[in-house]
Amino acid sequence: MCGIIGYVGENQAAPILLEGLSSLEYRGYDSAGIAVFSDNKINIQKAGGRLSVLNQKTDNGKAVTGTVGIGHTRWATHGKPSDTNSHPHLSKSGRFAVVHNGIIENYIPLKNKLIEKGFEFVSETDTEVIAHLFEYYYKTDIVEAAIKVIGHVKGSYALGVLCSDYPDRFIAVRKASPMIVGLGENENYIASDVTAILSHTRKVYYLEDDEVVVLKKDSVKIYNIDKDEVKKQAFTVDWDVSAAEKGGYEHFMMKEMEEEPTAFMNTISPRIKNGRIVLDDISLTEEYIKNINKIFIIACGSAYHVGMVGKYLIEKTCRIPVEAVLASEFRYCDPIVTPNDLCIIISQSGETADTLAALKEAKALGAKTLSIVNVVGSSIANLSDDCIYTWAGPEIAVATTKAYSTQLAVMYLINIYFAEKLGTITPEQYSSLVAELQKVPDMIAGILAQKDKMQYCASKFYNCHSIFFIGRNIDYAVALEGSLKLKEISYIHSEAYAAGELKHGTISLIENGTLVIALATGKMLYDKTLSNVKEVKARGAVVLGVTTADMPDKEDLGDYLIELPDVNEMFLPSLTVVPLQLFSYYVASLKGCDIDKPRNLAKSVTVE
Ligand code: AGP
Repeated sequence: MCGIIGYVGENQAAPILLEGLSSLEYRGYDSAGIAVFSDNKINIQKAGGRLSVLNQKTDNGKAVTGTVGIGHTRWATHGKPSDTNSHPHLSKSGRFAVVHNGIIENYIPLKNKLIEKGFEFVSETDTEVIAHLFEYYYKTDIVEAAIKVIGHVKGSYALGVLCSDYPDRFIAVRKASPMIVGLGENENYIASDVTAILSHTRKVYYLEDDEVVVLKKDSVKIYNIDKDEVKKQAFTVDWDVSAAEKGGYEHFMMKEMEEEPTAFMNTISPRIKNGRIVLDDISLTEEYIKNINKIFIIACGSAYHVGMVGKYLIEKTCRIPVEAVLASEFRYCDPIVTPNDLCIIISQSGETADTLAALKEAKALGAKTLSIVNVVGSSIANLSDDCIYTWAGPEIAVATTKAYSTQLAVMYLINIYFAEKLGTITPEQYSSLVAELQKVPDMIAGILAQKDKMQYCASKFYNCHSIFFIGRNIDYAVALEGSLKLKEISYIHSEAYAAGELKHGTISLIENGTLVIALATGKMLYDKTLSNVKEVKARGAVVLGVTTADMPDKEDLGDYLIELPDVNEMFLPSLTVVPLQLFSYYVASLKGCDIDKPRNLAKSVTVE
């Protein structure tokens, strides 16, 4: 999705803006632009395509002088990727320059109204409406103009705005789209994502919806919709700068897979004290847990797949009915949610538009909401009743790996914690689960150490046109994630099927040489999955089996076999997924794909 950075200070703005934009590249974009005050005029430079084109055009920013500016990477929604449609957009007289993330839903009536008033539009974007609206409502006060503008637009927005009447400052506003303020020494920043400013400052303000911030080099003032000044507490971001850098790896995805053991440990260890799970972060009492009627787990993409794992685990261990729902569906299916239901919301970014809207819907229906989020201070974390943070650190690759891993870790903590309160596990089982959970990071590290096995498998299959993943129960939930990982970065068509369901139609797609990746880690269902493997093999499939080292008859499972360490079945998803992540990575690498920034995708999906 789009990225924003803004700078005011004593240094040249353009190189800082371009550097910030380069750290936002991972979010996905197709054009970029900057606007800087140069000699009391707004100098706009923009270019379609990669940021390198803009860098070249501006001599890495050196050709654009000035110490106040805003920058943007655009992921096209309204209008194709082009120089004209890229941001910043100028108002009619050139007085205002605007960068925008999000979507203005009522831009057509606003545009028609402005055209009637004599405004001309040069782009196909919804954003240009904002630039003209600023000019339309502006008298002498930009904060008042901003308040008027936000009173008329509907939708989501994070805005950075320059006004040529005030060359010592710029303003920013947000609603349902991420935006933070970075506080420096004689310099201040805005950014849609903390990684853009991490090399300059860790001190940040999180903006609330419809707050207007005025940034000068030596002051930051925030106003609410009534133009009252708002005092805020500054937060210190503890993410390490190096965590958002490649550190010698060819791709962030590989670096982030290697970080999985640490991220997992960082997520569980502060919450285990003297062998007991302590969830200080949440306010759910034993009495509340005992009275939960139903749990909804709501999320998108990989986070939804964690929800699927959660469904199988919690139903089995806690005997509470659980429904895993796609956030985009939950919003519009008129869900039957009661005040005794708990809605668990999962999101790495904490800003995914569908998930955020589903959270609001769940709250409106009276349910208690508990979020599992990676980005501190993000909208979902702020809005939910309780939040358990995953301590994965910044995840840059579009394809999630370590965040997925830490979301699973939180799911295990919740499951064991609830089960103990409900009395559905014995004290002995509880102690043994907590002890075993702490061994999972080393087991993940052990699988990563054997990554050459997956590289070998990838070398055999990277030319496949279609790959199927099958599994039952929790293995099915992990199969969904393995298949998504493969298709998103390698562009190979793939489907994940509940192993027993394949024969009800999809098996017709199996032909000589089709690769089927069969996950069969659960002992109870091993024989059943093995039968499904035999069915596909009888139709010519080549099978890559994934199972545990201690599984009897494991050799029958596939032509190629990946063996996982033996662990309590509850934690197996954390191990099973690792070879699948590695397989996708190596397949994509052999195909020469842009692994960290796959086509058409964005890291944080802030539009519906
Ligand atoms: C997975 O690799 C994707 N990046 C995607 O499915 C992602 O999990 C989904 O968009 C949800 O994002 P979130 O966790 O930031 O809400």
